Amino acid sequence: MEQSIEIISNEIREKGVASVNNILDQDDLENILRIVKKPKKGSSDSYFPTRFSQFFIKLIKLDFKKVNNSFFLKKIAKKLDFKKIAENVFGTEAELQMIDCYHNKQSNDHILSWHNDIGIRDINNPNALKIFYNAADATFSTKKKNSARGIKFFINLTDVKSDNGSLAVIPYSDKIVKSVCSLILNKKINPVSFWSLKSLRQVVNQKPVKELLSKEIHIEKIENFLDNTKFIENETPDTSRFDFNLKRGGAVIFDELSVHRGSAPKKTDRIVLRFVYKKINVLN
Ligand SMILES: [Fe+2]
Repeated sequence: MEQSIEIISNEIREKGVASVNNILDQDDLENILRIVKKPKKGSSDSYFPTRFSQFFIKLIKLDFKKVNNSFFLKKIAKKLDFKKIAENVFGTEAELQMIDCYHNKQSNDHILSWHNDIGIRDINNPNALKIFYNAADATFSTKKKNSARGIKFFINLTDVKSDNGSLAVIPYSDKIVKSVCSLILNKKINPVSFWSLKSLRQVVNQKPVKELLSKEIHIEKIENFLDNTKFIENETPDTSRFDFNLKRGGAVIFDELSVHRGSAPKKTDRIVLRFVYKKINVLN
């Protein structure tokens, strides 16, 4: 790795995101490319077991290949100190929660538009509200062990750049999302949709919300967020300003509470490998 794990962790803690060129060396990259297939995102083929129960199921199904591949990927994560990086960011223990690898076919559509991973998608959908409260409660709880908050290690297995599959993350946006979550959770504001960047901006721009946020976040940071995200009001609601253009083997490591999007893989297919580490809450 080019940077030390302290430098990477500090950057993620401060800005919510860091990128690392060549996080995988050539040997590991080639070995990974040899074992990964090209499954769709979210398909059962895209996941590698990480917990005992998941390994057990794979063994019952005699899927030794998946078990071996998972051990191999976990070994790489250990060598690269992913757990330590996540723990430095959280300031508490962290646990590997998920490994997956998926393939996006060449397309003119964004892989996923600007959003954060925890926000309420649609306030009128009771299920979306339930999902939010479960995740937010686990994230900020001092009663539940496993947080829903994670650090995502997003490793590109193909070259990516603007307009060709690059991931973009808006720096410091994790602090805004986190504060909106706790305002809703603590009943300081009514629940609102804020999954998409457009809806999040509308919430932050409301005078009473902005005032409440400014008690936790410096007003300059809030205005900075609003400036950085103005583009979402444009006719073409996008910008390449926050794209991470990386060669294969490079990674973006980010707090899942950050606002991010996956750009359209307009020129080539895209393959990514992801590791997610969840925070272990300190219990009262
Ligand atoms: Fe996401």
